[in-house]
Amino acid sequence: MIDLLELQKQFILAHLKEGDIAVDFTMGNGGDTVFLSNAVGASGKVYAFDLQEEALVSTKNNLVAAGAPKNYTLICASHHRVREFIAEPFQAGMFNLGYLPGGSKKGVTTKCETTLPAVQAALDLLSPDGVLLVAVYPGHKEGEAEGAMLFEYFATLNRYAFCASKFRIINSPSAPYFFVIEKRDDHPVRHPGKAKKNARRAERLAAAINEASEALKEQAQAGEQT
Ligand SMILES: C[S@@+](CC[C@H](N)C(=O)[O-])C[C@H]1O[C@@H](n2cnc3c(N)ncnc32)[C@H](O)[C@@H]1O
Repeated sequence: MIDLLELQKQFILAHLKEGDIAVDFTMGNGGDTVFLSNAVGASGKVYAFDLQEEALVSTKNNLVAAGAPKNYTLICASHHRVREFIAEPFQAGMFNLGYLPGGSKKGVTTKCETTLPAVQAALDLLSPDGVLLVAVYPGHKEGEAEGAMLFEYFATLNRYAFCASKFRIINSPSAPYFFVIEKRDDHPVRHPGKAKKNARRAERLAAAINEASEALKEQAQAGEQT
């Protein structure tokens, strides 16, 4: 049987390598933070967010217990404030929406009004060829609403800039599912500076080829005359 949790990790690993930067937008008990910390290794960096202090404590314990490299920064703040804490682009981001498993405050769950700006900010900060993964839990009301909202939003993304997919078990409607958003690295509109530079390089190359062929023609003509 397909294990969707394992499958989502494959998408992350296809884009993430040692030394990269990754962000866990919903730290919870740190399962994903540990995974990201190991994936980027000691030379990489992981930022992780959660609203609840108890999530930070639990995550820190799990990171230490797992012997994860000390490459993490745990931030007690809502993920929609990501720009206040991270200025650099990152290669992979994970949202695992919902509430803290085993937590004391069941009411603290991710919500549409903060999930959307957080996801938008994450897509802005994502590096070219980076990946964002969002796991949705439709078994509760807020989770169902988040999934519907994100589906609408991701469907509007420019297809030349992003590839947005959804993975869902269709005969188990309340089972968790996930979105994968990959940022393309070859979209000319997102790199106007690079496109101009490439155009100038092409012009220079064409001029050099022209000059060389003129010189060859002159040489050939000079040869014919002698
Ligand atoms: C399903 S849990 C995450 C599970 C986690 N990734 C793991 O591996 O254990 C969702 C977490 O999101 C947190 N959360 C809820 N609203 C948030 C927000 N606005 N910003 C950051 N974290 C939030 C909750 O406190 C909860 O710990």
